Amino acid sequence: MRSYSLIAPAKINLYLEIIGDRPDGYHELSMVLQSIDLADQIDLRPLGTDRIRVRCTHPQVPQDKSNLAARAAELMAAQFPNTFAQYGGVEITIHKRIPVAAGLAGGSTNAAAVLVGLNLLWNLGLTQSELQELAARLGSDVPFCIAGGTAIATGRGDQLSSLPSLERLYVVLGKYRSLTVFTPWAYQTYRQQFGGSYTAKPQNLASRASGVHSGPMVRAIIQADGVQIGQRLHNDLERVVLPAYPQVLQLREAINSPGVLGAMMSGSGPTVFGLCESYNQAQQVKTAVKVALPDPDLDLWLARFSSKGIQVASSKQILG
Ligand code: C5P
Repeated sequence: MRSYSLIAPAKINLYLEIIGDRPDGYHELSMVLQSIDLADQIDLRPLGTDRIRVRCTHPQVPQDKSNLAARAAELMAAQFPNTFAQYGGVEITIHKRIPVAAGLAGGSTNAAAVLVGLNLLWNLGLTQSELQELAARLGSDVPFCIAGGTAIATGRGDQLSSLPSLERLYVVLGKYRSLTVFTPWAYQTYRQQFGGSYTAKPQNLASRASGVHSGPMVRAIIQADGVQIGQRLHNDLERVVLPAYPQVLQLREAINSPGVLGAMMSGSGPTVFGLCESYNQAQQVKTAVKVALPDPDLDLWLARFSSKGIQVASSKQILG
């Protein structure tokens, strides 16, 4: 038996458009997602029992069955009961670096790492698309987190088309540590306030969603045009989150300093990112934001765009 350490990158949204209501209660979305090299490490270790155990020292991360990483392992165990019986349970240790409830898919990428890791640990031989099918049952962002890189995501966010990778861009990320925004709240509030403008006919949903393929953001990505990407950043959820959280708006304004290609909230927030053409520039922006907003509750990070999803960092043969 082996143990595995996996790298689970965060994502940012470069584009998020809400198109309408879906029959399953979710929203039909049109998004462009991007992996960044701010990542958690997930260690998987076989246990001699039939238990699935989660360990994490971060106070906001649950260690019980509500943790999405634990649910990913439960899903694999239910899907492959004979393999689970043969190999036994697993201990999942989450080394948290991605901020929690931040709009960066931290929980989703941990679940994706568990799917990829158990596929290896249990010698299942599942393909990436088979893993992504299981991933969609756990959450809308989990399929993207498996493959990572740059991708268009439509439907609930789980219908993916990959785009050319954009590795030479950097982001400054900012989040108030004590501030969390719950994704269901953001979407429900959006529906209450702007649901009247949704596409009403179900047949229009798919064609509107697929419009992103030929839209200006995708064109800018194909041309690797950082300036255009910065100008085309768009997130409909800013319309509900920014008015409710003036701190986030203020942070967005501070990050959108001279030289930044564009600044926006990621996903349902409250993390804000500023797009930069070089590491040095990103560092200068980080320093300027620290001076402009000297709040000890404000955390800032630098990250680079990444073309990778879940990766195996190391693997060890263990007894048993
Ligand atoms: O799929 P996931 O569990 O990550 O979604 C969290 C919440 O975000 C959902 O419960 C729903 O309220 C909202 N959501 C949505 N439409 C989507 C994706 C998410 O309304 N396409």
